[in-house]
Amino acid sequence: MARLAKCDVVSIEDLTTAEVERIFVLADGFAAALAKGEPLDLARGLIMATLFYEPSTRTRLSFESAMHRLGGSVISSADMHASSASKGESLADTVRVTSAYADLIVLRHPHDGAARVAAEYAPCPVLNAGDGSREHPTQTLCDLYTLRKKKGRLAGLTVAICGDLKYGRTVHSLIYALARFGANIVAVPNRGLNVPDYVLDRLAAERSYTFSMVGMDELKSLAGGLDALYLTPSAPHQMALFTGGLPLEKLPSEQVPAALDAFYVTRLQRERRGENEGDAGGPSGYIRFDAQALKSSRTHEAVVMHPLPRTDELAYELDSDPRAVYFEQAAAGVPVRMALIAWLIEKAACAGSIARIEQPAEPPIKFKSEPAPRCANPNCITRHEGAYLRPRFRLAPRVSRSVLPLRCDFCDRELGAGFVGHARSRRYYRFEESLYGYARQWIEEGSLVVFDSEKQAEEHGYEPYRRGPQREIMNGDEVARACETLAAQLIEDLPDLSGVAMVGIVSHGAILAVRLRELIEARTKVRLPCAAADVVSGADAIRPLDAPGEFEVEGRTIVMVDDVINSGWTVQRAMAALWKHGRPASVKLAVLIDRGHREVPIRPNYVGKNIPTARAERVQVRLSPPEADGARKHHDRVVIYSMVESLKEPAKEPG
Ligand code: CP
Repeated sequence: MARLAKCDVVSIEDLTTAEVERIFVLADGFAAALAKGEPLDLARGLIMATLFYEPSTRTRLSFESAMHRLGGSVISSADMHASSASKGESLADTVRVTSAYADLIVLRHPHDGAARVAAEYAPCPVLNAGDGSREHPTQTLCDLYTLRKKKGRLAGLTVAICGDLKYGRTVHSLIYALARFGANIVAVPNRGLNVPDYVLDRLAAERSYTFSMVGMDELKSLAGGLDALYLTPSAPHQMALFTGGLPLEKLPSEQVPAALDAFYVTRLQRERRGENEGDAGGPSGYIRFDAQALKSSRTHEAVVMHPLPRTDELAYELDSDPRAVYFEQAAAGVPVRMALIAWLIEKAACAGSIARIEQPAEPPIKFKSEPAPRCANPNCITRHEGAYLRPRFRLAPRVSRSVLPLRCDFCDRELGAGFVGHARSRRYYRFEESLYGYARQWIEEGSLVVFDSEKQAEEHGYEPYRRGPQREIMNGDEVARACETLAAQLIEDLPDLSGVAMVGIVSHGAILAVRLRELIEARTKVRLPCAAADVVSGADAIRPLDAPGEFEVEGRTIVMVDDVINSGWTVQRAMAALWKHGRPASVKLAVLIDRGHREVPIRPNYVGKNIPTARAERVQVRLSPPEADGARKHHDRVVIYSMVESLKEPAKEPG
């Protein structure tokens, strides 16, 4: 039996919270043993291979030191230019061959998603020592370990992460981990180097965690006033629910943290910048962190962290300050990585623990017809390996109104497909939200095709479905009457409104929920708590409309409100978001229009108006937002249109 479990650590999310805790316990033991100079032989007979396609000092040497300290051996390709990779050997072949020589592979690679590929091809465990700008999970273990040692906890800490948050792989892993351990993040990106959307989307979808960004100048000018701009997960803002944007938000004073607990400073990742990206303002335009930053009453307890190497962003004058812990972070690399190896040994010893990593809920999409989509990230490993490595996508967890969002299985970046096609009928559509359910059905059938343009679709022999003429089916007065009908139904059905709350699905369902609340209040004098469910922005979150304050779901009757159910997937996602928020006593669904058929078996309890439609017809609701009361009648309307098959245009006569 292999002495190490086939547990790959490609992302920090591959480790459960209990596993991270266990690694820290082991690291404490190894740190103590190292301090006493105790000889260890836990890994005697094991060989670790370090394959570094990019330079490294800390990660490679601390991994190698860790293995030696545990009594194991190391074989290393510290410069892959001197390996057969320079002759064109694929990553898949290199790791398969190396697995015959070693029990464990530690891989650093310049391309996003390389560690995932290595993990899939190598029969032995693969530890990601940094893949492109994607993740660096073992650095995060060192960061968390050091931070917790210094502060005694992780939950509730407030960490400002500064610098290149776009390409800094240590930052991405750290953000996922801090969110998981309940810390607050203040992101302070250098101009143009914000946390990428794919990281924010993953956080929002998997952890319902969002945060906003503060400019470096704003942070600097806030000496003594940091609390005024402090941003915390899921800050509510009523207008943002209707506009989709989350502006900077002031929080009520009781939620404001008194101080920052840590600064995590990062260097400019020059080696990852695209040719057209300039120099982030040049060295003078990049942050420079010095002793001044620690002088405010709100920062004087903060520790200063940096994954290293540093360039000019961190002043040497800080080195002698006891709050500067970056060399301790680097030193923690040995006991923490010893602990990781020991944990792999423990896992192998535990029956049934092998190959633990769970698959994401959505299976990969099988694209059976050409053109197969290609990842849009030029640094994705699928763009750099041979034809053996087929691009692979899953449906991204967020819903979009204008593109079908697919997530690359290797680099996590999103590919927004603007056009979707059906391989058997050879028709294509410009994507819109109401097609989401159809796209899911085609995925199940294996008949989904995606195109980046009409030109690409037509070059592959597909013909367009077109949007037929629009017909108004409800004007402003009729919409108002339908709202009255809904409000009356709700009041009649729910005589005790004390335990009732409303959740409108962004955006028109949220507008409708506010209107229904006004109508109910006018008749009963009861003002119902109201929230919005935003399944489009990626937040999948329930946000209160009555800021500030929490929106209570537990034990309540929730009236979920939407304008019209097309496929039913949006309502289903909103329901899932609601249940993540709390356990309601019951959920009722109110819709302005019931069109009579849908993909998902959802039946509304309250209907403003029944409008039977054909399957190829789409219903579109337009409602003016709540602050424009006077103009409501003119702007509210409901239209219907059909998706019609095109007739081939007759070829034009030349001349
Ligand atoms: N922090 C870190 O990854 O350093 P190296 O690049 O020196 O390994």
